[in-house]
Amino acid sequence: MITSPLALLGGPPVLDVPGPHFAWPPIEGRDVEAVTGQLLSAVSIPDRSGVVANLEDDVASFLGVRHVVTTCTGTAALHSMYAAAGIGPGDEVIVPALTFHATATPLFHLGARPVLADVDTCGQLDLDDAARRITARTKAVVAVHLWGLPEDMDALAAFSARHNLMLLEDGSHAHGAAWRGQQVGSFGRAAAFSMNGPKPLSAGEGGFVATDDTELYYRVLLHGQYNKRCRREIPADHTLAPYAVTGTGLKLRIHPLAAALAHAQLPRLKDYLAGREAVADRMRRALRGVQGIDVPHSPAHAGPAWYALPLRYRPEQLADLPVKRFLEAVHAEGAVEVDLPGSTRALGDHQLFHTPGALLPGYADHQGPAADSFTTAQRVHGSTVKLPVWHRDQDLHLADAYTAAIIKVAEHHKDLVK
Ligand SMILES: Cc1ncc(COP(=O)(O)O)c(C=O)c1O
Repeated sequence: MITSPLALLGGPPVLDVPGPHFAWPPIEGRDVEAVTGQLLSAVSIPDRSGVVANLEDDVASFLGVRHVVTTCTGTAALHSMYAAAGIGPGDEVIVPALTFHATATPLFHLGARPVLADVDTCGQLDLDDAARRITARTKAVVAVHLWGLPEDMDALAAFSARHNLMLLEDGSHAHGAAWRGQQVGSFGRAAAFSMNGPKPLSAGEGGFVATDDTELYYRVLLHGQYNKRCRREIPADHTLAPYAVTGTGLKLRIHPLAAALAHAQLPRLKDYLAGREAVADRMRRALRGVQGIDVPHSPAHAGPAWYALPLRYRPEQLADLPVKRFLEAVHAEGAVEVDLPGSTRALGDHQLFHTPGALLPGYADHQGPAADSFTTAQRVHGSTVKLPVWHRDQDLHLADAYTAAIIKVAEHHKDLVK
């Protein structure tokens, strides 16, 4: 006997189309041509030439920065950025406690210390908490534009200037996002981006560092792009030119086939983002006012990249229905790609931030954060339910079905707690 229209309890689902419902990046004939063309021309590029130079030039002009260096991953880009920014042994860098771990982990490989700071209820860096964690060793603060929603860059720029800290950015979720019309990734001394699979600009695997600072650029090259590239680009009279052949000994170059994919994708990024903006707007309008669900607020002068639509789940408005049960019911309605964030989470949850010494012997004396240090990051993580944001008109039925599934479960939540 059907006692509820909820699919989980035997009713008909909202969406009867099997998943997956979202794939990224969108692959077209021109991507296939670009990658196969590259396969036939060069599969290893040791200097700044060919598709690597073309991609770096186009990303630099897209972001409005002087220099871009591509890397094999976003993690490598972050590592190179921190190294090139002069972060070294004993230095402290303030990192939001809610992000993907690679925003912070490269610091361990430089002998530096990530100092986690809590976030506010919107998931943005809590500048009061960050200020309390500044010491004489603090060198930099990192802005992470989580889920593609830009941080308040007015506040962060003022904060870093007031405390004499270097401002760095992790734009891995936010290619093409803007704050007051300025591209994220162009605010700090340098920015690092991932171009891993689902990122707004995807190379499959890849990353890049963006900066206006030519000295920092040379140091990024020396960190992970040794020999030919360094020899050709670092002036012979530069004090670091004698290191050009080895650099620091790390090799972090992008693969040319990955560069070819990102280069083919880049001209479509603005259209992707405009499409996502319209779909995110439609989904937010559909969900606004639904009991138990808060939609993300984006100030008028912010231009998000909508890497995902992060909703806040409010169980106290839904008879304390656990989020996992809510999600189970939404999946049963056919909205199978509604998700709880996995790897982007409160960093204090990871063993590495408590006792890194077991893996990284230089950190045997590392003092991990107290268990209750990042209560807001934990609360935000534990209550975030994220949805894909489509960009094409032909997927609007999916966006509508996903919001309808959420509304249906919220409206019938009492059937699940009976
Ligand atoms: C915010 C953030 N920073 C850094 C990274 C690391 O990028 P990659 O996976 O390309 O190394 C990711 C990857 O998901 C990320 O989400």
